[in-house]
Amino acid sequence: MFKERIKTHHSAMSEGKKYVRGVAGVKEALSEGRLDDPGNATIYVHVPYCSKICSFCNMRRTLQTPDRELAPLIVRDIAQYASLPYIRDTRFDAVYFGGGTPTTLSAEELVSILSAMREHLHFTEDAEFTIETTVTELTQDKSDALVAAGVNRFSVGVQTFDDRGRKSMNRTGTGDAAYKRLAALRQYKDVTVSMDLIYNYPGQTDEDLERDLDRIAALSLDGFSLYSLINMKEASIGEAQNEERDERFFMRIAQKMRGEGYEFLELTKMVKGDRYKYIMNRHRAADTLPLGAGAGGSVDSVALMTPVAVSEYASYVEDFDQRQGMRFAKEYDEVTRFKGDLQTCRLPRNEALYRDREAYEKMRASLLEEGLIEPEEGGYRLTDAGIFWGNTISRKLSELL
Ligand SMILES: C[S@@+](CC[C@H](N)C(=O)[O-])C[C@H]1O[C@@H](n2cnc3c(N)ncnc32)[C@H](O)[C@@H]1O
Ligand code: SF4
Repeated sequence: MFKERIKTHHSAMSEGKKYVRGVAGVKEALSEGRLDDPGNATIYVHVPYCSKICSFCNMRRTLQTPDRELAPLIVRDIAQYASLPYIRDTRFDAVYFGGGTPTTLSAEELVSILSAMREHLHFTEDAEFTIETTVTELTQDKSDALVAAGVNRFSVGVQTFDDRGRKSMNRTGTGDAAYKRLAALRQYKDVTVSMDLIYNYPGQTDEDLERDLDRIAALSLDGFSLYSLINMKEASIGEAQNEERDERFFMRIAQKMRGEGYEFLELTKMVKGDRYKYIMNRHRAADTLPLGAGAGGSVDSVALMTPVAVSEYASYVEDFDQRQGMRFAKEYDEVTRFKGDLQTCRLPRNEALYRDREAYEKMRASLLEEGLIEPEEGGYRLTDAGIFWGNTISRKLSELL
């Protein structure tokens, strides 16, 4: 039914430009308290450093030892935000440290940020605190310190346990070492452990894939993200993608891991027990406060983006009183939820959003006929084939808004 498979929600996002309502001063926009706090707000902290650059990656990051200014700047910004009535009245439900590799910061730096959050902001009782990490950066001492400081979820970028595959992706350390680190993380009580898996990388065989899946199952991880390797022009892994193998590998992962008790939470995530509240809340258009260098978010419909260069981030923090964001119309939340429904493997429930209802019904009939969706109570959910094509379906349906 489709020619091109879109693999990420970034490229499946259509522009929100028509919802932009101009520039807003952050201090003024958040100067009033709120009575309607749904208790689902999130915080995203971006740490733009890596100690080694992987051959496939074009994330917002640089190869360098972390700038020691970053953590104190984040701590200061937390205190500044906490002085605003809207933020004071907000209960945060999830925090996500992403990158880059957040664990390139020292344990002390990360703990100082977590402590500042606890000191200045309000959290729900079962708030989730996630740190994204590679296995090599997350030493035992560091994970102990982080768990003691309240981290209750690790998202570990393993990619593959296969040493040949690791080498082609320029990952540090062996697959066995990665396995042992994950096994050690499993020992913490009440700490969720998830990992990133890349499949369909150059040279990967069916047996290689089976071995990766067996190891995830043996570790009984709470969840794993599954990414088909995207061949970025800017990245250096360079080999045309094998499309037939792409679909075959995806279907094998879905089928085998269902048998191991995993279900799809998102188009690129299977879980058994991992609630991943950070992303689920964002799919429901929750506020997201961006902290750190190179972070994006949106609070009370004001979109914010922090500079990625630390020198510029320092001025951004310094000039808090002049900080500006982009005001979006409140209706944009409905578009976020529309896309969130698709990311969580269902057709959007809010059908009133379609401009052309007839075109939507035609598309829905085709999706049904092709076996990409199936009815469920209150709507339709994506089948495994539909999940494989999920970001492409999202793009096509978004074009009808
Ligand atoms: C912010 S990155 C990495 C986190 C951490 N620095 C690490 O490498 O373990 C999040 C995930 O995106 C995935 N990713 C990045 N580039 C990709 C690509 N070109 N194709 C597929 N997946 C990719 C990887 O699985 C990676 O772990
Ligand atoms: S995959 Fe992770 S460690 Fe590798 S370059 Fe990208 S952000 Fe850095």
